[in-house]
Amino acid sequence: MKLLKVSRILLFTFLTLLFSNCNEDEILSNSTAELVTIGDKDYRPDFHFTPQSNWMNDPNGMVYYAGEYHLFYQHNPDASVWGPMHWGHAISTDLVNWQEMPIALYPDDLGNIFSGSIVVDSNNTSGFKTGSESPLVAIFTHQNPANNNQTQSLAFSNDKGRSWTKYENNPVLVNNSIVDFRDPKVSWHEETQKWIMVIAAGDEIMFYSSPNLKNWEYKHSFGKNVGAHGGVWECPDLFKIQDENGQEKWALLVSINPGGPNGGSGTQYFLGDFDGEIFTTTQESTLWLDYGTDNYAGVTWSNEPNNRNLFLGWMSNWVYAQNVPTKGYRSAMTFPRTLNWKNINDENIIVSELPTELVYAVGRKVIEKTDASGFTLIDDETLGEGKFYLETTLDFSAINEAKIEWGNKSSSVVINYNKVTGELLLDRSESGYKFNNLNGNILKCPYVLPDSNQLKISMLVDKSSMEIFLNDGERVLTALVFPLAPFKNLEISASKEIQFIKKIKINQLKK
Ligand code: FRU
Repeated sequence: MKLLKVSRILLFTFLTLLFSNCNEDEILSNSTAELVTIGDKDYRPDFHFTPQSNWMNDPNGMVYYAGEYHLFYQHNPDASVWGPMHWGHAISTDLVNWQEMPIALYPDDLGNIFSGSIVVDSNNTSGFKTGSESPLVAIFTHQNPANNNQTQSLAFSNDKGRSWTKYENNPVLVNNSIVDFRDPKVSWHEETQKWIMVIAAGDEIMFYSSPNLKNWEYKHSFGKNVGAHGGVWECPDLFKIQDENGQEKWALLVSINPGGPNGGSGTQYFLGDFDGEIFTTTQESTLWLDYGTDNYAGVTWSNEPNNRNLFLGWMSNWVYAQNVPTKGYRSAMTFPRTLNWKNINDENIIVSELPTELVYAVGRKVIEKTDASGFTLIDDETLGEGKFYLETTLDFSAINEAKIEWGNKSSSVVINYNKVTGELLLDRSESGYKFNNLNGNILKCPYVLPDSNQLKISMLVDKSSMEIFLNDGERVLTALVFPLAPFKNLEISASKEIQFIKKIKINQLKK
């Protein structure tokens, strides 16, 4: 019954998306004239991936092969709103500079190409190998636009992801009783020598296994009575995850829409065990990968050369993704992050950190200061460029509350941490573009300070996005922001006149 209801909600969502007004002018009239004139030029991020033109949502098929990080993505090449889904494609060798490639997968008789994953089939278990390269095999959802039926299919590439052939016996996996059956993420399970698929099914995750990527056997369903169920579950990911001592657990990421921690789309996770067939957890609370509103459908790279859980998400939210005031293109990806686990306050959590490749984006140091009772930068050109990397460590031993305000005379973004309530608030309600319908736009993130009473905040800002990391990724908030005019001012202040800023450093971001 419940699944049926969720399915109906999703079908309605898809139909709404399909028939939503594709007229750019009307969408932009939602915002102010001023915003439109700032438009694409200033809002397009520099070192986050964006498609040259038109619509993008989920990252798909992220795989590393032969020196290249591949990023495929949900793409509508004909409009800057959602529509018939293709797989767009981009390649990077450093995770900062991306080269857009021709479209990899087009819709066909079986339907549109929804989200999925890619594996390197080094042992040629699929038999798709033709030359000297290992075949890259894509496992994706075919969505029939006539009835929203969702089945799983394969495509392969024997030339390092440049050209793709769909498998002649598609689909390889159907499930006639569940409408929302999509977004397969496949990985190799060394211990059982099998491929494992996790796939979203209504508001649960199903586990399948296969020797060859073509024949799949159902193993188990996970999700009843655990985690958040305020919406449909989408885009799962399953991987081993370590703490700093190399202690291993399994992580299951599950995106949920709606029902995120601050409204709309969000990504929850479970830490537990996996024996090759069944995932179990003793976790009782719902844990969120990101408390911002703009990190959805993220998964990790397959075949990552340094054995990192390297993650990237879609930097938007289904609540307003189709209306944001960019011109000619819509949506960016988050900056990649590495995921590990850690025990804090008796709870096992995932920590997300910026990868070492950040060095390719970070440029000249603008300012560095230690031990200050406040900090102000006015009319600063680096800030005004809308891209910078800020790191600050605040000491809450003698204060309860501190805030960082980044803006101009008439509008700003305010980040406020209160030690007593144990909550960080990110207020973008007066930051320019109005993010309709999301909790009054004050994003809340619960966070209790460690015994040191110190809060390190790292903030990566790229034109229309901010990614905020608390104490090396114990919490993350990713949020879009569209200022009306450049934000050239920054102020860090506290409830008391006292030296509470241990350190503040700002670097330019190049490109
Ligand atoms: C998540 C999602 C997926 C689906 C794709 C369609 O954002 O709804 O579940 O495969 O987008 O574009």
